[in-house]
Amino acid sequence: MQRYFQLPQQAVNFLAAKYGSPLLVLSLDQIEQNYKLLTDNLPGVKVYYAVKANPDERIVRKLAGLGACFDVASDGEMLALTSYGISPERMVYANPVKTPSGLAVAKQTGVHQFTFDSESEIGKMAAAVPGGTVLLRIRVDNPQALVDLNKKFGAHPQDALRLLNLAREQGLDVAGLCFHVGSQSTNVKAYLDALRISRRIFDQAAKEGFNLRILDIGGGFPIPSLSENVDVVFMLRQIHAAIQEYFAHTEIWAEPGRFICGTAVNLITRVIGTQVRNGQPWYFLDEGLYGTFSGVIFDHWDFELLTFKQDKKQPATIAGPSCDSLDIMFTDKLIEPLALDDLILVPNCGAYTSASATVFNGFSKTSTIVWEDVRGEIADGKHARATA
Ligand SMILES: Cc1ncc(COP(=O)(O)O)c(C=O)c1O
Repeated sequence: MQRYFQLPQQAVNFLAAKYGSPLLVLSLDQIEQNYKLLTDNLPGVKVYYAVKANPDERIVRKLAGLGACFDVASDGEMLALTSYGISPERMVYANPVKTPSGLAVAKQTGVHQFTFDSESEIGKMAAAVPGGTVLLRIRVDNPQALVDLNKKFGAHPQDALRLLNLAREQGLDVAGLCFHVGSQSTNVKAYLDALRISRRIFDQAAKEGFNLRILDIGGGFPIPSLSENVDVVFMLRQIHAAIQEYFAHTEIWAEPGRFICGTAVNLITRVIGTQVRNGQPWYFLDEGLYGTFSGVIFDHWDFELLTFKQDKKQPATIAGPSCDSLDIMFTDKLIEPLALDDLILVPNCGAYTSASATVFNGFSKTSTIVWEDVRGEIADGKHARATA
């Protein structure tokens, strides 16, 4: 099993004393190991990192150096990546419903690869980037995913040929299909079903004179951490075997977000207030639902809270620092009794956390330091457990 990035208590104390809290600590080595874990087990697959999961420039630059490509969702992401020197050929604008400013920036920066799932999108893409390369996103039902993206996106497979034909009529380079099984999908069957459906559509399209050459299997891969209790490697190998069976001669892309960055960031947060309400302890932290814990709402993520204490756990309410009563991350969370100023370590904080944090109530976004830059500062050189 893979080990993952988790700071030891000594590092937590040192970093909080030196850099303050709340604090995010990013391991770029972990980013690299996750990238390699994916590419080793899905050999030949071209990785388009989904920037939305964590757009931190250091992550993007690290991945660019490793040879990754990028899934971008907006004008902002295209402009940011362009400013880092990433060429437009390495981006796919993979938002099925693109904004006018997004299309204008695609034209301006030279991004010419798109995904779409509806008729209304075809004319928009053809007008902005004539002859652009397009992949049709098909719907894959997977209620077992943590975040079911198929409620909002994906054309019904029965509509696929009609949409491919309409795109061809508008002069677009109809290159293939894509799908997204939903985020944090621990269900490999969803990928296998999607691959079979895609094969069927590729074959039907061939009969109508299409030469589809790209299949994008999207993101959704679960984070490769111990706590998830999922054999991610086995899952990837099953997907690879199905690709070999159905798409041995097709260019395969993937758009992982969470898998790459989820385990690479730890949050250090501090207890800034305690109370007892209705007989239950309440702990107020210096990071809340409007910050890194935004993943509780937007990503349905159940964060692990590590206190380094051995006492018996008790149900408690954990709240954030804002004046909003919505700003409660957990109720009845089993946790060791805490006191003012205690530090909590939250691992697996890299995906859909800082990316969706706000500055509500005037709190700044939590800053991120890079573990590999600071680990040498820790007195006796005992470092965090990094991945194997
Ligand atoms: C089009 C697209 N690709 C990739 C991703 C990344 O998904 P994940 O982080 O589950 O790998 C998303 C997430 O919303 C997405 O919408």
